[in-house]
Amino acid sequence: MRVVYCAPGSRPDPWLAGLRAALPGADVYDWSPGAAPADHAVVWAPPQAFADEQSSLRAVWNLGAGVDALLRLRWRDGLPLVRLEDAGMASQMVEYVLHALLRHYRGFDAYERDGREGRWLQRRPPRRSEWPVGVLGLGVLGAAVARAVAGLGFPVHGWSRTPRTLDGVKTHAGDAALGDFLAATRVLVVLLPLTDATRNLLDRGRLAQLQRGGVVINLARGALVVESDLIALLDEDHLAGATLDVFRDEPLPADHPLRRHARIAITPHIAAQTLREDSLAQIAGKILAFERGEPVTGIIDRARGY
Ligand code: NAP
Ligand code: GLV
Repeated sequence: MRVVYCAPGSRPDPWLAGLRAALPGADVYDWSPGAAPADHAVVWAPPQAFADEQSSLRAVWNLGAGVDALLRLRWRDGLPLVRLEDAGMASQMVEYVLHALLRHYRGFDAYERDGREGRWLQRRPPRRSEWPVGVLGLGVLGAAVARAVAGLGFPVHGWSRTPRTLDGVKTHAGDAALGDFLAATRVLVVLLPLTDATRNLLDRGRLAQLQRGGVVINLARGALVVESDLIALLDEDHLAGATLDVFRDEPLPADHPLRRHARIAITPHIAAQTLREDSLAQIAGKILAFERGEPVTGIIDRARGY
């Protein structure tokens, strides 16, 4: 079995070594134009030339949960494209959301500012009942986050395309339910895939439906949010803050307005990183199952976009 690796910008050696260890006997190599045709490809954001050249692939294994970059390429009809499912990302997402949520809820930014500026000011303690959290996307990552936040005693709402049931979470499904979901939400956690249906979903009209003093935590993809509308609603005091891990332009330019805004905290797309060991173990296990003719989970529905 031949396995080709293609993740431009990464250092291939540890990945190739990991793949060889996980798939003993496989011929594993890094892609460059003209490389031999492989049976399986392990990729992150490969170029179109890769998809064009590698015409004998039986499946493509994405080194991430999001497949928007993969779906921008033209692939052979019917070629299975498979995403990572959790592989150590859900617990990272939970940590990130709990940190961001508690920072906004407890007003730690304001207390840190007070400390630096010489003030000693005790504000009214917040009540969790006044800080309902809404999780957009109840998939592998969103469901883990919704459960963890509900476990802390916050009211939690969740929104998905098809109906979902989660203990401790009031769930909403479909476009017709989005308005009620937003109106019930003060802290919005975005964990949707970027698809034709979700691009620019969070524009001025939708963000304005969040409760006053609302907070946006976007951990999915930058293009889900209209960034200028988010800034306008922060400047108008309808929203109180935002924590953003993902952006339309990555890396975020040094002079971008999102970097300079006093109420926006940013991180460089690290909310849940691909963990090499966990990811290669998952992918190798699925490749072997696939080769035995067994069903594998995580195959992308190309028409749906995720
Ligand atoms: P997933 O398991 O595929 O879950 C996607 C969720 O979104 C599902 O609940 C799905 O609804 C819902 N959804 C999709 N389209 C929708 C629509 N049009 N309307 C309403 N709900 C919709 O994905 P995941 O593994 O949780 O990952 C989510 C995203 O996180 C990824 O796509 C990626 O962009 C992002 N991510 C970011 C980082 C980071 O470090 N920042 C790391 C990993 C992933 P159904 O349940 O009905 O299918
Ligand atoms: C990271 O953003 C991923 O999609 O895994």
